[in-house]
Amino acid sequence: MPIKTVKDHFHDHFSGNLISRHLNYYFLNSNENKSELIDQELELRTFNIGDIDKCAKLFKEVFSDYPWYDNWISFNQVRNYLIELIENPVFEGFLAYDDKEIVAVCLGHKRSWWMGKEFCIDEFYVANKMQGNGIGTKLMDYVKDSLIKEDYTRLVLLTNKEIPAEEFYIKNGFYTNQDRINMINEL
Ligand SMILES: CC(C)(COP(=O)(O)OP(=O)(O)OC[C@H]1O[C@@H](n2cnc3c(N)ncnc32)[C@H](O)[C@@H]1OP(=O)(O)O)[C@@H](O)C(=O)NCCC(=O)NCCS
Repeated sequence: MPIKTVKDHFHDHFSGNLISRHLNYYFLNSNENKSELIDQELELRTFNIGDIDKCAKLFKEVFSDYPWYDNWISFNQVRNYLIELIENPVFEGFLAYDDKEIVAVCLGHKRSWWMGKEFCIDEFYVANKMQGNGIGTKLMDYVKDSLIKEDYTRLVLLTNKEIPAEEFYIKNGFYTNQDRINMINEL
């Protein structure tokens, strides 16, 4: 099936169910016209609120599986978590879209750090059956290109040691900050 035009995509997604007027205003004013077709199979573009349900469904599928096996109990639990990320006024998201399906997602937030503008990746995932085919790398390249155009200087994230994601991030130019530790206080 031929891939839809960028214009059609934006029309479809902006006419979807919107969660609130605030989000509608934010996304309509920050994300429109940012889309890029990289080939006949994959479209890369910024997230908009009409993507929320597909992103939540895919998130639950991916993180309920190897190597995470997270215990997300329902679609709504995941959806609420993603809405918390999205309601952040400095939120930004990026997607890879294959025909009608979202196949990879990057959700994060911007930070004006003293060393320069940073983008913190909160979630990055590729559909289980599509992993290992270079889609994550293509999405990461798109995220980087988009942010470089806005003068961002760094990407930062947290992940687990010794899972495929660690190797993926290293191959995509990330390194471990040996001066940092991740601290938790159980309440
Ligand atoms: C980690 C992830 C985002 C990588 O995306 P991807 O599209 O699968 O990665 P790519 O195909 O672009 O692979 C690039 C490199 O990542 C590593 N990699 C990716 N998937 C791998 C796997 N299943 N096993 C081993 N290495 C893997 C490899 O080093 C690969 O390099 P290679 O092709 O030279 O072997 C994706 O596999 C994923 O969503 N995993 C589950 C969710 C997750 O862990 N997200 C990160 C949370 S912080």
